[in-house]
Amino acid sequence: MAARLIGFFLFQAVSWAYGAQPCIPKSFGYSSVVCVCNASYCDSLDPVTLPALGTFSRYESTRRGRRMELSVGAIQANRTGTGLLLTLQPEKKFQKVKGFGGAMTDATALNILALSPPTQKLLLRSYFSTNGIEYNIIRVPMASCDFSIRVYTYADTPNDFQLSNFSLPEEDTKLKIPLIHQALKMSSRPISLFASPWTSPTWLKTNGRVNGKGSLKGQPGDIFHQTWANYFVKFLDAYAKYGLRFWAVTAENEPTAGLFTGYPFQCLGFTPEHQRDFISRDLGPALANSSHDVKLLMLDDQRLLLPRWAEVVLSDPEAAKYVHGIAVHWYMDFLAPAKATLGETHRLFPNTMLFASEACVGSKFWEQSVRLGSWDRGMQYSHSIITG
Ligand SMILES: *[C@@H]1O[C@H](CO)[C@@H](O)[C@H](O)[C@H]1NC(C)=O
Ligand SMILES: *[C@@H]1O[C@H](CO)[C@@H](O)[C@H](O)[C@H]1NC(C)=O
Ligand SMILES: *[C@@H]1O[C@H](CO)[C@@H](O)[C@H](O)[C@H]1NC(C)=O
Ligand SMILES: *[C@@H]1O[C@H](CO)[C@@H](O)[C@H](O)[C@H]1NC(C)=O
Repeated sequence: MAARLIGFFLFQAVSWAYGAQPCIPKSFGYSSVVCVCNASYCDSLDPVTLPALGTFSRYESTRRGRRMELSVGAIQANRTGTGLLLTLQPEKKFQKVKGFGGAMTDATALNILALSPPTQKLLLRSYFSTNGIEYNIIRVPMASCDFSIRVYTYADTPNDFQLSNFSLPEEDTKLKIPLIHQALKMSSRPISLFASPWTSPTWLKTNGRVNGKGSLKGQPGDIFHQTWANYFVKFLDAYAKYGLRFWAVTAENEPTAGLFTGYPFQCLGFTPEHQRDFISRDLGPALANSSHDVKLLMLDDQRLLLPRWAEVVLSDPEAAKYVHGIAVHWYMDFLAPAKATLGETHRLFPNTMLFASEACVGSKFWEQSVRLGSWDRGMQYSHSIITG
């Protein structure tokens, strides 16, 4: 059909459907409630299915305590009557959404494993199964990060340039990997894993420390950079031995963090030029030459840095050919309007995906870290997803 297709739909006559288990609310004195789960009970949601023609499904959460409750109603295809009026322009397409997910950090694993096994199962089900919110992406930190209880990398033997002592500690083999396997088993769809390093081994770094201002020693193309690129491949090899294959890796978690003196936790500094040359000379070739079919995401840092980082890295065809996407974090979004950063980057590089790789409420030093049941904090995430 050549004509512009515009439909007017009135959504009306909602009735509640049944089947899912409702939230058992508990207030901790903040603006909403949390839902209490135990070994035998956890709230769940009705699986998402296509509604019958002429009807719609609605999943609703409320401040009072509804959580993703399904209701159904009929669509009235004319402009009379009352209800929500939606104008559909199906020929106008925007971005595709790859999915939604969370991070399997050491802290995540320790907290999940602190529950009784039946409660663990119900919690994982609420994240990954069709009776839950069906996460289909999991981020896996490569070695320790600020969500760990000790500091380590996978290659802490000094000057082990062959990485012959590379090994996964129990954080991976006993905590994270078994939980990832459980999540994959519960999911009805494929789950995309992606991995990010925070710090390299200290013997590869200019400052010899996991934190603070420090970068890889030497120059792209040299033994320090090649060893660090091979570490990514070793990581992918090691996880493959446990049957886990990765969709992607990011070149570095928050590469600008390691450019700051006194940065408090694990980091490794890169300027955009340094990241460009590390990708084109070391990381890109090492991944391409490995047995892994893995994508590479650049940046993995605040969108405030766009479009400049994208321009520096992607204007080099040798680096650009290895880069599948640009990962962004949300912490400085209030200083960086989406249109001027993400919008402009998409205009310049329409074939490079934009991917939100990290968000965490309560992370600012002046904020209280946990506020159980804060509706405002939930809204911060949903606002970021819808506008970002
Ligand atoms: C688990 O939670 C459900 C719903 O609140 C409750 O009926 C049940 O008694 C709880 N079980 C235990 C063992 O606390
Ligand atoms: C509008 O749609 C409703 C539901 O489909 C129907 O009952 C009503 O008669 C329609 N009104 C007009 C003016 O077509
Ligand atoms: C490194 O591995 C070698 C064998 O591959 C072993 O002999 C040596 O003890 C290891 N070193 C450390 C510090 O773990
Ligand atoms: C590619 O991999 C092979 C075998 O693993 C290795 O011998 C070769 O040096 C690698 N080449 C590059 C450019 O990394």
